[in-house]
Amino acid sequence: MDFKEELKKYQQQINQELEKYVKKQKCSEEILNRAMEYSLMAGGKRLRPILVIATYQLFKNDIEKCIPYAVAIEMVHNFSLIHDDLPAIDNDDFRHGKLTNHKKFNEATAILAGDGLLNNAYIVLSKDLMHSDSKELPKKLKILKEFSEATDRMIAGEYIDTELEKQKITAEELRYIHTNKTGALLKLCVRMGAILADCTDQELQKLSNYADKIGLAFQIKDDILSEEGNEEILGKPVGNDKEQGKCTYVSQYGLKGAKEILNKITEEAIEELEIYGKKAEFLKELALYIQNRNK
Ligand code: IPE
Ligand code: IPE
Ligand code: MG
Ligand code: MG
Repeated sequence: MDFKEELKKYQQQINQELEKYVKKQKCSEEILNRAMEYSLMAGGKRLRPILVIATYQLFKNDIEKCIPYAVAIEMVHNFSLIHDDLPAIDNDDFRHGKLTNHKKFNEATAILAGDGLLNNAYIVLSKDLMHSDSKELPKKLKILKEFSEATDRMIAGEYIDTELEKQKITAEELRYIHTNKTGALLKLCVRMGAILADCTDQELQKLSNYADKIGLAFQIKDDILSEEGNEEILGKPVGNDKEQGKCTYVSQYGLKGAKEILNKITEEAIEELEIYGKKAEFLKELALYIQNRNK
C-alpha cells in the first residue's frame, strides 16, 4: 500500500471510531452534543490519532488498545481548535471549509462545546482505565499524567500566542510558543503510542526526539500555509496571521528562512527513525507529508 492509501485508511478508521463515540454522547443538552459533533466530524486530517496508532505499530499490532487514546486526543485537539477560532483568540470564521463553531452556533455554545470535548476526552480515558487489566494500569496512569500535562502546555501556548501578538519577540520565545501550542500534543501522541506498546526508555527517547521535530515542523508549515496557502484547499483563512500580527516563523525568518528551517528539521526527524529501518517507513513518510502538505 502506498503512503496516501495508508493515510486514507487510517483516517477512515479513526472517523469510524469517532462516529461511535459521538453516537454514545450523553450530554443532556442536545444542542451541545450537536456542536461537539459539528467540529469533531468536520473533516480534520486526524494526524494526532494516526501518530498514536502508527507509533504503536512499530512494536505491536493489536491497535484496538490505542483507540481510546486516539479518540481522546482528537477530542482535545478539536476543543483547542474551537477555542482558537473564538473572537477573543484568533477570531476566525472558517475552518475545514465550514463556519467555525461560534459562527455556526454562537459564542457561548462554542465555548461550552470546547469544554465538553475536553471533558469527554477524560471520560473516554477513565472508561478505558476502568476496563483495563491491573497489570496495564501503571503505564496507563503515566499516560494520563502526560495527557493532562501536554494539554496544559497547549493551553499555556495558546495564552502566550495571544498575549504576544504584535510584539517583537526572540527566537527562543517563538520556539516556546510553537512547542507548547502545537508541539506538546503531537509529542504526546507519539509517546502514548510508544508507552502503550511497552517500548524501552531508549526507544521512547528516540521517538520523543522525532516527535519534537515533527511538532515544530508542523507549526512552521502552518505558519507558511497561513502566508501562501490556498484558502479553498486549506478550508481556513490565509493571511490571518499577518493581519493579527501573530509571531510566526514567517514573521521572524521570512518565507524563505521558515522553509529552510522546516526542511532541516524534517530531515533531522527522519534521521531519528533510522534505527527502525523499514518498519518506520510510514512515520518517515508522515514527516515528509507534514513538510509538503497543502492543507
Ligand atoms: C491545526 O491543526 C491547528 C494547529 C495546531 C496548527 P491541524 O492542521 O492538525 O488540524 P486538522 O484537525 O487537520 O484540521
Ligand atoms: C493553533 O494555532 C494551535 C492550537 C489550536 C492549539 P494556529 O492558530 O496557528 O492554528 P490555525 O491556523 O488556526 O489552525
Ligand atoms: Mg491561534
Ligand atoms: Mg488560529
